[in-house]
Amino acid sequence: MSKATPNMKQIGVGIIGCGGIALQNHLPGLALCPEAKLVALCDTDPKVLERAASQTGVKATFADYRQLMERDDLNAVIIATPNVIHASIALAAIAAGKHVLCEKPIAMNHKESLAMLNAAEKADVRHMTAFTYRFVPAMRYMAHLVKGGLIGEPYHFRSCRLQDWGTRALGWRQVAKMAGTGELGDMLSHRIDYAHMLAGPMRRLVADDRRFHDVRDGQVSDLEDWVTILSEFVSHGATGVLESSKVATGHGEGARSEDYCEVDGTEGSLVFQLARPWTLKTAKKGETSFRTVEVPEEFLKSPGSPRDARAGDPLITFRYDQAFEFIQAIVNQRPCVPSFAEGAQAQAVMDAAVQSIREKRWVEIA
Ligand SMILES: NC(=O)c1ccc[n+]([C@@H]2O[C@H](COP(=O)([O-])OP(=O)(O)OC[C@H]3O[C@@H](n4cnc5c(N)ncnc54)[C@H](O)[C@@H]3O)[C@@H](O)[C@H]2O)c1
Repeated sequence: MSKATPNMKQIGVGIIGCGGIALQNHLPGLALCPEAKLVALCDTDPKVLERAASQTGVKATFADYRQLMERDDLNAVIIATPNVIHASIALAAIAAGKHVLCEKPIAMNHKESLAMLNAAEKADVRHMTAFTYRFVPAMRYMAHLVKGGLIGEPYHFRSCRLQDWGTRALGWRQVAKMAGTGELGDMLSHRIDYAHMLAGPMRRLVADDRRFHDVRDGQVSDLEDWVTILSEFVSHGATGVLESSKVATGHGEGARSEDYCEVDGTEGSLVFQLARPWTLKTAKKGETSFRTVEVPEEFLKSPGSPRDARAGDPLITFRYDQAFEFIQAIVNQRPCVPSFAEGAQAQAVMDAAVQSIREKRWVEIA
């Protein structure tokens, strides 16, 4: 048993980075976990820290994550800062024997993500990557059907994430030294994870990107607004086509904008759309049109979750199952799904895409 799990009845959790995603996903998710207790908060911005403290009633607040790590009542941390500091915080948390849920992309490059994975494995702490869209009921059901052989061997994986963020400022997300990559890490990283889950590892890829706006709301942007990957999978040479844009005019923003994912195989095809989180479309070999299937009740939430699957907006509430998975893995001393291994696998693809764009050629994936 790791030192972070001393026969615990209640798991003390700290959040590092109390901005948008901490408030939207992690706080409500933790609130649904009877075994979890939020004990500490950290943010370098005093206003953000104060807002999170008043919202949660948590008194232990820190500007420096190293001080938060010293608390004995802290068993686990959630890292929700800009990407540049994920690895440093994760390695400090692991060294202090804490379990870690880290936002995606977990690191700035594959090397950093492997260091995080290896350190966490060595320290025997639980480690998780926040690939939140795995928890969409339709995506969980799609992965189940693909694993069960419904589509046979995959021919094609296809994903399309289209949003219209116009020219508004994106804060740290438009700054290379803070984010590493733009649309690639921000949006496509989740879809690279879909690809791994549904079609297995990729062998090689060629990628391209584009920045349409060098200035967003008066602030310089040095990162891409659009990215695409054409890939070949290890399995039977299946093909992948992935595209993601922040400037797809007319598509709007968020969960209601286009997030399309399709797998076509020797026996059938499946189509996922985030905006329809409780249905899939499917066709069998020989058919000429798709029919809609409902996601069965048992896939509407993580098994055992106390969440009422039918309460709230289904485009929001699936996100809370992520914290439940993290806490359950700690309680049951089993690996988290997805772990840093899946985070690092996506990071290898991202590194290959960056190299392909720079060198304008196909690149083998590490
Ligand atoms: N899984 C998802 O669906 C999803 C969605 C949105 C964002 N994210 C990821 O979550 C992370 C945070 O994104 P966000 O939208 O919440 O950003 P944000 O800017 O709203 O919040 C980040 C917070 O981190 C704080 N911070 C910066 N450096 C810090 C440090 N050294 N120590 C402590 N706090 C620090 C900032 O002050 C800010 O309040 C990013 O990695 C992003 O890619 C994931």
